[in-house]
Amino acid sequence: MNALNKPVNVGIVGLGTVGGGALNLLRDNAAELSRRTGREIRVSHVGIRRDKPGLELAGITVSNDIFAVVNDPAVDIVVEVIGGTTTAREIVLQAIANGKHVVTANKWLLAEHGNEIFAAAEAKGVYVAFEAAVAGGVPIIKVLREGLAANRVDWLAGIINGTGNFILTEMRDKGRDFADVLVEAQALGYAEADPAFDVEGIDAAHKLTIMASLAFGIPLQFDKAYVEGITQLTRDDVAYAEELGYRIKHLGIARRTADGIELRVHPTLIPAERLIANVHGVKNAVLVQSDPVGATLYYGAGAGAGPTASAVVADIVDLVRSLTAESSPNVPHLAFMPQAIAATPILPMESVVTSYFLRLQAEDKPGVLADVTRILSSRGISIEAIVQKPVQAEGAVPVIILTNPVLEREMNRAIAELEALSDIVGAVTRIRLETLA
Ligand code: HSE
Repeated sequence: MNALNKPVNVGIVGLGTVGGGALNLLRDNAAELSRRTGREIRVSHVGIRRDKPGLELAGITVSNDIFAVVNDPAVDIVVEVIGGTTTAREIVLQAIANGKHVVTANKWLLAEHGNEIFAAAEAKGVYVAFEAAVAGGVPIIKVLREGLAANRVDWLAGIINGTGNFILTEMRDKGRDFADVLVEAQALGYAEADPAFDVEGIDAAHKLTIMASLAFGIPLQFDKAYVEGITQLTRDDVAYAEELGYRIKHLGIARRTADGIELRVHPTLIPAERLIANVHGVKNAVLVQSDPVGATLYYGAGAGAGPTASAVVADIVDLVRSLTAESSPNVPHLAFMPQAIAATPILPMESVVTSYFLRLQAEDKPGVLADVTRILSSRGISIEAIVQKPVQAEGAVPVIILTNPVLEREMNRAIAELEALSDIVGAVTRIRLETLA
């Protein structure tokens, strides 16, 4: 057996939902994977900080010191699936320093430390693959980096947190309680270790940060992303949006404009007839508008052991082929050549132009709506639709307004003026609206 057809040894650091799924998939599909790569791929070493009763690990070296995996000379490829940004960063950098290729599903790590990690990998001539970091089993990294390589991306918009979409779907379709659905998402292995990352939009912002870098050839800049989660959404807003022909989805949006890049995650009204409006449960979807291909849509399971393992193992297959070719994958980590990464600014949210759904509670008195429309028009905000709902028990009238596109800064000022009106009760609810046309 020569070096190019001997088995490839994989070391896995972390055996949670994703690591366990990858281990099982490498075993279950071993014959098919070997047909695809011409090599046997075997898990030779796993690192787990605590023993995991019930896992079949016969024939595999098991270390509680997880650094033993990356320092094992026999390991060819390290799979980092422990999550977090401290030990995970050290593990990945140590694997790179040891000249090993890495596969990671860790979007948090890449969104915050990806620039450093990719630079280290490039200097060492190894590769850090991360298909599993975004949209679970949907191969969106390969799409943005390779499939759409001929295109100039204008914008992308995605449902990129399975837990959040699962919660929104169950709340809307079955009237279930937020907390109760979240517990189910955790039991199904969808949620992050800290589920606040899912429901407060942080996980989606990590993934959006990565996709924006691949789409536009810019550094990873998670700290510049605008992040809003789903915890403030009410069933009333969902119902009012539906009556007007819209669905509320939690979207990550990255858009190229003349002034810079929009990078934002927030609940969004989208026309109910769009395909992406019909993406339910744990499914993710990413809509990419690029030239010349136009709009393309990518859909599939965004979380869970099997779908995420599918992406991890696809990366392993790529790396095994590279090892056999005695090369490193020649696709740049961020899709563009490192020296061509652009310093295009990320726009602050106040400089973003979008449409809005506003809900306000007005006293049932003559002249209130006139005051509302006067404030909006004085800020150059034109109204697309206005609906007054029946008086509620406490005497206030819900008023729903859809606006045409306007600068967020102007909308912030208008909302402050509306809330200062004595006949407007409480805070104004604002949900951004995108036609995705
Ligand atoms: N917690 C994530 C989600 C897992 O629900 O989408 C997949 O990245």
